[in-house]
Amino acid sequence: MQYGAQRVSDINLSQVRKMFEQASPTAINLALGEPDFDTPKHIIDALKNALDEGYTHYSQNKGEVKLRETIVDKLKKDNNINTTADNVILTVGASEALYSTVNALIDPKDDVLIPDPGFLSYREVVKIAGANPVALKTSAENGFNTTLDDVENTVTENTKAMIINSPANPTGSVMPKDEIKAIAEFADENDIIIISDEIYEKIIYDKKHYSFQAYTDNAVTINGFSKAYAMTGLRVGYLSACSEIIDEVLKVHQYNVACIDTATQIAATEALTGPQQCVSDMTSEFRKRRDLVVDSLYDMGVECIRPDGAFYVFFKQDNPDEFIQKALKEDVVLVNGNAFGEMGEGYIRLSYAQSYENLQTAMERLAKIA
Ligand SMILES: Cc1ncc(COP(=O)(O)O)c(C=O)c1O
Repeated sequence: MQYGAQRVSDINLSQVRKMFEQASPTAINLALGEPDFDTPKHIIDALKNALDEGYTHYSQNKGEVKLRETIVDKLKKDNNINTTADNVILTVGASEALYSTVNALIDPKDDVLIPDPGFLSYREVVKIAGANPVALKTSAENGFNTTLDDVENTVTENTKAMIINSPANPTGSVMPKDEIKAIAEFADENDIIIISDEIYEKIIYDKKHYSFQAYTDNAVTINGFSKAYAMTGLRVGYLSACSEIIDEVLKVHQYNVACIDTATQIAATEALTGPQQCVSDMTSEFRKRRDLVVDSLYDMGVECIRPDGAFYVFFKQDNPDEFIQKALKEDVVLVNGNAFGEMGEGYIRLSYAQSYENLQTAMERLAKIA
C-alpha cells in the first residue's frame, strides 16, 4: 500500500538537516540557518511575564490585536506599506506564512516562479499544493539578483505567483529598489501575485531593503522574528496583504493552526517595541563574520561574492561533494549548493551564524583542504 498522497510522496526532506545528522557532535556546523545568539533578555522576560499573567489560552485566529497593530506601525516605518491590523495574520514562523499563502492562493494547474538557487522550502511547498514550481534562475554574473528580464523570460501563461526572497538565502543577494519597483509593476499588469519572503530584512549590510507591497497590492509580505531577534524556537512570523488575499489565507491558517502561541505574541510585541540595539549589535557581528569568511576564502583562492545580506556565503567549487566530504573529516559541516536548485550546482553554502572563534577554527580547517 502507498501511504503517502501523490502530491506528498515525492517531497524531499531538507538536505541541510541530513548534513547535520551525518556530522559528529563536536563538528562546527556551518550548515544550519539559525542565529547562534541567545534570544535577547528583555524578550525572554516578556515571555515569562506573559505566562505568569495567564496568556496561555487561544488568541484571535489572526493573532492578538496589539501585536498586529505593532506590526502595522513597523510596516509603515520600515517598509513604507500602509495597512491595517485586519490585513495582518500572525503565523507559526515565516514558514507557516509561506505554507498558508501558497495553499490558499495556488491551484494545481498553476505555475509558481521560485528563485533558483533559493530556499529549499519554496519548491516543496508549491509541490504540496499540487502546483508546478518553475525555476527563476539567477547567476553569479548578476550577483544572484532577480531582474525584471529574468521574470519576463521565465513567466508562463499559467503563472499565478512568484516567490521572491531579498535578502536571499542561500546567496545573500539584496535586490535594488528599481528592480523591486519594476517587478511590482509587471505583477500588476499581468495579474501575478508576488509572495515576498523578507525574513532577512534586518540582516543587511550596506544596502537598503525595499518591499514589493509598497508598490503593488498584488504582493504578500512575509516576515518574522526568527532571524532578526534570534527567536527561531519561539515560532512567530506574519504576513500582510490586501483583504481579498487575507480572507483566503485565513481559511488555511485557521483550519491548520487556529492561532499561534499566545504568550509568544507578547514576547514578539516586546521585540518590536523594546530596544532595537540587540538587532544592530547582531547585524554588526554578522558583518565581522562575513568579512572573516570571505577574506579567508579569498586567501585560499576560492571565488565568491561578498554578500550584502543574510548570513550565508555561497562559494564556488569544482567538486562540491568531494570538498564537503573532506570538510566533514575536518569536522566542518557545509551544504552542497545544488540542494538549493540547479543553479546552485558547483557551489557550496556556508552559514556564518556561528561564533567568530568557531568560524576562525573552521576557516583554518578549510584552508587545509582548499
Ligand atoms: C528564506 C527563508 N524563509 C523562511 C525561513 C523560515 O523562517 P521561520 O523560522 O520564521 O519559519 C527561513 C529559515 O531558514 C529562510 O531561510
